[in-house]
Formats: sequence, C-alpha cells, structure tokens
Amino acid sequence: MNVINNIRQLRSWSTINKGTRCVLVPTMGALHEGHAALIRAAREIAGQNGNVAVSIFVNPLQFGPGEDFSKYPRTLIEDLGICRDNGADMIFAPKAEELYPTDRSILLQETSLSQLLCGASRPGHFEGVCTIVAKLFNLVQCDDAVFGKKDYQQFAIIRRLVRDLDFNVVLHAIDTMREEDGLAMSSRNRYLSPEERAEAPALRAALVAARTSWKNGERDPKALERLITQQIQEKAPSGRIDYVAAADATTLQPVSATTELVVIAVAVFFGTTRLIDNIELK
Ligand code: PAJ
Repeated sequence: MNVINNIRQLRSWSTINKGTRCVLVPTMGALHEGHAALIRAAREIAGQNGNVAVSIFVNPLQFGPGEDFSKYPRTLIEDLGICRDNGADMIFAPKAEELYPTDRSILLQETSLSQLLCGASRPGHFEGVCTIVAKLFNLVQCDDAVFGKKDYQQFAIIRRLVRDLDFNVVLHAIDTMREEDGLAMSSRNRYLSPEERAEAPALRAALVAARTSWKNGERDPKALERLITQQIQEKAPSGRIDYVAAADATTLQPVSATTELVVIAVAVFFGTTRLIDNIELK
C-alpha cells in the first residue's frame, strides 16, 4: 500500500498507474466500519487489477466558524490499518498547505440543492465539499468514486457537480452502516456523552416508524415529518432538532407530483454534536 502526502508523488503514482482503473474513496479520516464498507465496495468495483485509492484529509474549507475543525479526530495510524485491511492500494493524506495555497481564490458553489437541509444550517459547507471533491478528482484522476448515503445531500450535490462540470467519474452510493441499536456510524458519535449516546438511536427509530407509516399508506409529507419530530422529542429529550424534512430524493426540493422517490432526512444536535440520518421510502 502506497502512502502519499504530496502532489508531486501523487502525479507520478498516477503516471505509473495510467490505464489502470482507479476507484477513489474520499474521507476525512477517523475511519470506522462505514468507511471500511466504502473501501470494500471500491475494491469490488476496481476488481483484482484495478486500484483503490483512499484520501484522508480533514478539509478546513467545509467547516464553519465554531464547528469542530480543530477537534475533529485525527487518527492516521489506525486509519492506515483499516485501509490496508479492507484492500486499499494507495492513500493520499496531504497536509492543508499542500492543497490550499494561502492566496487561493476559487470556490465551487452549487446553488440549488445546497440551499436546503444541512446547507441551510451550515452556510459555506457544501462549497467546501464541492471544492475539495473537484480537486481530489483532478488530482487522483479516478475513474470511479464511492460515497455513503449517510450524507445523502452531499451525494446528491456531488452528482450535480459531476454532471454540470463534466467530470469523467462514475459515482457509487453505499448504504449506511449502523451500530447494533441502529445509530448511523459516524466519526462524531465519539463526542456523545453516555446519556446522549443512549438517546441517539431515536433518530433511526423515528425514521423507521415513518417508513412503516408510509408503507401503511400515509403519503402526506407533513404528517410523516410530524411523526418523526414527535418521536425524537419523546425518545431523545436532550436532542435539539435542526430539521426533519421529507424531500424529493434527486432534487432535495419538497415532495411534488413528479417525485419518484422520497427521502426523509433529519439533523439533531446533542449539545454541540450534530447527528444526521435519512431513509428512502420504498
Ligand atoms: P467523511 O465524513 O469522512 O465521510 C467519508 C465518506 O464516508 C462519505 O461518503 C460518507 O457518506 C461515508 N460514510 C460516513 N459514515 C458512513 C456510514 N455510517 N455508512 C456508510 N458510509 C458512511 O464526507 C466526508 O468525509 C467529506 O465531506 C468528504 C466527502 C471526504 C469531503 O471532504
């Protein structure tokens, strides 16, 4: 497994591996079983002869003021072990100075999907995500990239990025990996106090209850949102709901007559820790 931390080395790795299918898994490190599932999926897609690349970079551009950039967990040694165990061939783990010149002056902005849901409460976040993902696609020259459905809005926006800017990258979305009690795995779960951790599975439970209600015929998005809100308030009293939204899975706009697939997304603060989850209604 090659571990590369600068652009010059990365370019020579790309030159040597020209013609070999490359599948990229972008991450911010602090890897857990959710990331491991993405790396294994990438291994499948790349096949025996392809390359699986994992980027590990805590991207300062996507953190707002007052967010957890400085305390975001950095666990490179453990991360490298997880990458190796799950079949990665190359790790790109640059320092911020390597990727961002101090006088950088270009930001990529998505102007529709990023206005809602997480974008509404994290201004600038998706500009940071679009910018780094575009840079990683350019740097790694990957043929495919693998993302998690856990960050549903992020995936929808990256799909737009690839379509609107003609990146020659095939995107793959992988189902959310969960703890036994249903809590979506996240690098941020470690910030939760024992009490908050005990309440956090309420997000998933509420989403599943809404899906059950939908399967029983409830089609009113507002009724489904109300059900979820009530359940979270009841089962997770220390949580503070940021949003509960039923949306069109492609456009992320409110559900309409043309909606083919509905996704319900939630974000809940426990103290300063913000957890997200979602469910597709099908
Ligand atoms: P990060 O939060 O490290 O997540 C990296 C990838 O892992 C994302 O595609 C995310 O959706 C996926 N992921 C996280 N938790 C998961 C889970 N429980 N099950 C399955 N997949 C999961 O998302 C980012 O980093 C950054 O925004 C990034 C795209 C790397 C740009 O900086």
